[in-house]
Amino acid sequence: MPLVTSTEMFKKAYDGGYAIGAFNINNMEIVQGITDAAAELKSPVILQASAGARKYANSIYLVKLLEAALELHPEVPMVLHLDHGADFDVCKDCVDNGFTSVMIDYSGHPFEENIAESKRVAEYAHEHGVVVEAELGTLAGIEDDVNVDAGAASYTNPDQVEEFVKRTGVDSLAIAIGTSHGAYKFRPEQCTRNEKGILVPPPLRFDILEEVARRLPGFPIVLHGSSSVPQEFVKIVNENGGKMPDAVGIPEEQLRHAAELSVCKINIDSDLRIGLTAGIRKHMVDHPDHFDPRQYLSDGRANVKAIVAHKIKDVLGSDNKI
Ligand code: G3H
Ligand code: 13P
Ligand code: ZN
Repeated sequence: MPLVTSTEMFKKAYDGGYAIGAFNINNMEIVQGITDAAAELKSPVILQASAGARKYANSIYLVKLLEAALELHPEVPMVLHLDHGADFDVCKDCVDNGFTSVMIDYSGHPFEENIAESKRVAEYAHEHGVVVEAELGTLAGIEDDVNVDAGAASYTNPDQVEEFVKRTGVDSLAIAIGTSHGAYKFRPEQCTRNEKGILVPPPLRFDILEEVARRLPGFPIVLHGSSSVPQEFVKIVNENGGKMPDAVGIPEEQLRHAAELSVCKINIDSDLRIGLTAGIRKHMVDHPDHFDPRQYLSDGRANVKAIVAHKIKDVLGSDNKI
């Protein structure tokens, strides 16, 4: 099957109480790790490219990598999604060049401007059979091209969601309920420590999610910044020359709960970066004589696949849904 939009998969996910994983792609090994796991577990999947990814890999390579993945796994419903499109022009470029879903992220702009730009993108995208995600509220977190400092972040105001969705015509909505981008989602002083000394972050604002769902029944909600920062992989990074002190993410049981509610798309990037890095670092330390990229990248790719498989089965619940 060709690339699809997320319309059908979100409907089934909403009704079935599970979510679709949206994993960030930057190179061939990451695409292979994600799509091999999705195929093995019979799970639909969203592959998403940020501005940074499109610049790094060149968008054409990413589109072609997805074509290759589809040729190998034609039974897997796959969406190619633009992550955090900065404005209409970026979204248009993706609509015109093979993406089946785009995000317009005008969440840092005033409400009326967010509505106007999101509506403009939705109208253009819909004319071309492409679906649109927009965002209300801002996430904290520091990433290459997605940079909102913690002080500027604000939770989504449920009073605004009906008007926003109605006036823009977007197909899904990302909301801010306490997640944030990157591997350092909370400062240590915002967390408590469990008996093993691991940081435990403050819980997500499920009251906001529930209120949004009450106001937008049946409407798919998106969670960004949903990496859990698996401590076993952080440990491998740190034991093999890396330095990721106090990296902390969102507990998986909270994401599982969100997936049972109205959240249909859960964005994960940092966990794959950590897994890939852990595999490469360990390989380099274990085999100082190796210099063939196929050797160390294989270990990185295997970690990406294992992490995606775990997410699909144990967090998202999207396995056996094809
Ligand atoms: O939402 C942010 C993603 O993790 C993408 O990050 O802009 O560094 O590619 P990036
Ligand atoms: P993480 O940094 O938590 O993986 O979030 C990724 C994301 O939201 C991409 O849009
Ligand atoms: Zn994001």
